[in-house]
Amino acid sequence: MQLILNDPLDMHLHLRDGEMLHTTAPLSAHSFSGAIIMPNTIPPIQSKEALLSYKQRILEAMGSENFMPLMTLFFRRDYDYEFLSNIRDELSAIKLYPAGITTNSEGGVSGFDIEKLKTPLEAMSELGIPLCIHGETNGFVMDREAEFVPIYEKLAAAFPKLKIIMEHITTKESLQALDRYENLYATITVHHLLITLDDVVGGMLRPHLFCKPIAKRGEDRDALVQAAVNAHPKVMFGSDSAPHPKSAKECPGCAAGIFTAPIALPLLAELFEAHGKLDNLQGFISDHAKKIYGIKPPKKSVILKKEPFTIPKNYGDIVPMHAGETISWKISQVQ
Ligand code: NCD
Ligand code: ZN
Repeated sequence: MQLILNDPLDMHLHLRDGEMLHTTAPLSAHSFSGAIIMPNTIPPIQSKEALLSYKQRILEAMGSENFMPLMTLFFRRDYDYEFLSNIRDELSAIKLYPAGITTNSEGGVSGFDIEKLKTPLEAMSELGIPLCIHGETNGFVMDREAEFVPIYEKLAAAFPKLKIIMEHITTKESLQALDRYENLYATITVHHLLITLDDVVGGMLRPHLFCKPIAKRGEDRDALVQAAVNAHPKVMFGSDSAPHPKSAKECPGCAAGIFTAPIALPLLAELFEAHGKLDNLQGFISDHAKKIYGIKPPKKSVILKKEPFTIPKNYGDIVPMHAGETISWKISQVQ
């Protein structure tokens, strides 16, 4: 059995910078047609110069692949219309992190006072720049995302022309919010479609399954799976593939982030097939995102075959999710 995916898109990707970029960029560029590149590098991407030079480093690192890096800025309250209109053509979205909520987010927003966010969010609405949000409060870890839903709703109501992407959603509460506001959209990762908190801490501690937001309950995962496999038109694939060196994962203070970029498509094929919904993968992996973001990525056909594939133990210094395990689909050809 085989499956052809056209122009796969990863709408939430951490490529990092420096040495690691030379491992990550070619892997994503091989099997995806484009990706939304997260700006939480060290230092974060907050100016046109930083964005253009990061894009250049990505283009150089990815080699000869046909791949469109869709660049983002790290949100700041002082972005205004003039600054944003000057960078509009290079920009696909702006990413907002609550301060300190995840890896390299110290410079994020504290408090969600609409008045204080008006200047950048009104400018983004006018310029048609989507706002991607890491929606977690600093409450109890299992409740952080559900507690953030009222903030999503407040923003969606205050800025009705602004496209707001609820990033890497993990709960049924977030899915319900999607249907209440026309301007709310969401990304879902492959790991949140496959694992629950039990897989992370229910037996031996599994550092390579630790990420933010933390995986939740079975009922949450099942609700996410239903939205994805039934091709909810406001839901897009975003891997949130977040590589860290092995030494930062296998240590007392394990960094949050799961590396899935090179294995995401076979894992999704396996999942959609198990639900008898292989036909709906094209929408989740590309068509919904093209429509929501209004983008035209380069043409690419990824041919997947139903054949056993053993996930490598490592990609350079990075250990992927399910390292060493055998799955039932693999990428056989990209053209
Ligand atoms: C991400 C990272 O490492 O940059 N980590 C993660 O667990 N997902 C940041 C993020 O998206 O929260
Ligand atoms: Zn992320």
